[in-house]
Amino acid sequence: MDFSSDNSFGVHPAIMDAVLAANGGTAVSYGGDDITARVKARFRDLFETDLEVLLVPTGTAANALAVSAFTPTVGAVFAHAEAHIAVEECGSAEFFSGGARLVPVTGFGARMTPATLAAALEACPEGNSRVHVPSVLTLTQATECGTLYRPDDIAALAEIARSRSMAVHIDGARFANAVAALGCPPADIAWRAGVDVMTFGATKNGAMSVEALVLFDTSKAAELDRLRLRAGHLLSKMRFMAAQMDACLADGLWLKLAGDANAAAARLSAGLAALDGVRLAWPTEANEVFAVMPSGLSAHLDRAGARFHGWTTVGLAGTDAMPGKGEELRRLICSFDTGTGAVDRFLAVARGYNG
Ligand SMILES: Cc1ncc(COP(=O)(O)O)c(C=O)c1O
Repeated sequence: MDFSSDNSFGVHPAIMDAVLAANGGTAVSYGGDDITARVKARFRDLFETDLEVLLVPTGTAANALAVSAFTPTVGAVFAHAEAHIAVEECGSAEFFSGGARLVPVTGFGARMTPATLAAALEACPEGNSRVHVPSVLTLTQATECGTLYRPDDIAALAEIARSRSMAVHIDGARFANAVAALGCPPADIAWRAGVDVMTFGATKNGAMSVEALVLFDTSKAAELDRLRLRAGHLLSKMRFMAAQMDACLADGLWLKLAGDANAAAARLSAGLAALDGVRLAWPTEANEVFAVMPSGLSAHLDRAGARFHGWTTVGLAGTDAMPGKGEELRRLICSFDTGTGAVDRFLAVARGYNG
């Protein structure tokens, strides 16, 4: 009953097998190998366009490098106030960009809106040479609250970004979960909606350690390649990272695994919401469930050995979902390997609480 993170789970066997299979003979180092070339071709097919791909081992590196390629050191990067890049990456984007500033944008469920983005942009009035230059808009898909941006949402935000000459980045650590939930072509929530560069996550979706920096604006590819090297994220034995991504993308495995994670979360969410005294903080749209529950139930589940985290209530301030006295907010994440068995065991324990 581990719902602590999609990172807590292991590696999907097909992906592990691909790493082992890549272990024969020699291969050109630093990404000149055949598997890396195949991964690029797969991404071009997947997104139905020309693009460039750079693999890195962590989502933090992907986000920071993507942002730093598109911002000057005096740039302003607009991110949701609860975004991972803003609160969980230790200033990586600011550091790698050489001092760009992250400007927080508000919005319920970790989703910014055209109105909240426009309000945040007022921090950087046009023609004012004493403030940072708006340079990047970064959106998380699926968001840190497990909610989604629809294609039109992204297009509307990208239009505002474009009106201020900003590039658009997607932190897609859980992009696969978003695509599986929305059922749209990946391009519809990427370049077709105005996205220039994205982090395409695989680690949380059954890989060991690989994320792709996907550049739809290929003009920055050579610079980003150097930034990756300078940051120490150009792996010499690239084939082993590439093999993971190759297996993810082969035969739609990435989408199947994300769909399985989403289905487990939907089952968990429905079961929890049906319990007396439990309510969802945000709708469950991908593979994360946020439930406000009685503290007694929360402790009962902990005692039964369930693993899941408490979560900040900052995003619930002023809303009906805000936990009251004797209640708390907890986050449950389902992975490709959670399965219905763990969900049903957890719900059975929860139903057995009679506090
Ligand atoms: C939305 C989001 N973006 C980026 C990251 C960073 O990934 P990593 O831990 O691989 O650096 C995470 C990790 O939890 C995340 O949830």
